[in-house]
Amino acid sequence: MARRRQIYEGKAKVLFEGPEPGTVVCYFKDDATAFNAKKKGTIEGKGVLNNRISEYLMIKLAEIGVPTHFVRRLNMREQLLKEVEIIPVEVVVRNVVAGSLAQRLGMAEGTALPRSIIEYFYKNDELNDPMITEEHITAFNWAHPHEMDEIVQLTLRVNDFLCGLFLGIGIRLIDFKLEFGRLYENDQVRVVLADEISPDNCRLWDIETNEKLDKDRFRRDLGNVPEAYVEVARRLKVIRDNEIEALKNRPRLVE
Ligand code: TMP
Ligand code: ASP
Repeated sequence: MARRRQIYEGKAKVLFEGPEPGTVVCYFKDDATAFNAKKKGTIEGKGVLNNRISEYLMIKLAEIGVPTHFVRRLNMREQLLKEVEIIPVEVVVRNVVAGSLAQRLGMAEGTALPRSIIEYFYKNDELNDPMITEEHITAFNWAHPHEMDEIVQLTLRVNDFLCGLFLGIGIRLIDFKLEFGRLYENDQVRVVLADEISPDNCRLWDIETNEKLDKDRFRRDLGNVPEAYVEVARRLKVIRDNEIEALKNRPRLVE
């Protein structure tokens, strides 16, 4: 890992000071957690794969005009980002019933929703990321009403675009989680898409078999966990066959 000053260490990523003011370097770890870190593990090669997958999706989203914090990928495990002030809200979009929605409302996983649903969770590990509404977000000033308008617009665009993109590679985008940040640039502040988009924070099911190709394999002990991440990367064509072999044989050495 490069010798840089560490700013923050999260469950799956480490942030370092970037080479210029206003930039940060994000290092993708193989560590995985679930249920607010009650379950911990390692998914061999995940950091390398999520770095590529997220890079690809952020570039594609930027191409359709979605502003993001992504600048460029630096190496196998790191990317350069614009420094943003993270809005402490997890924005979850659901197209199909799964996970906590299935549990909360006693609905069968896999039921298609009549329309996409957006849910909000307060980013606070001590409180277990409680579900909140837009009312809480604006009342407590976590985001301003005009920022929420922007977040909803961007979220729906991201969902439409990603649904189509994944459909093209035989994957159903069941649900996913986004985070947004404030970018301060030239005396202006704007909301941009932040964090990563990867099988860590999306539910991705094979269109034919409904096989889970995401972190639910780890959360639910379904086996073949690294293979699911490799499969998503392979279908997106963000990893070459020889790199897949290298990851399989010596995952820790691919730095
Ligand atoms: P949920 O069904 O557990 O609420 O998850 C909804 C989506 O959000 C799913 O794609 C996984 C993602 N997610 C995260 O990225 N981080 C989290 O901490 C949780 C709970 C879910
Ligand atoms: N990343 C989350 C945690 O460990 C949970 C999850 O993704 O399921 O808190």
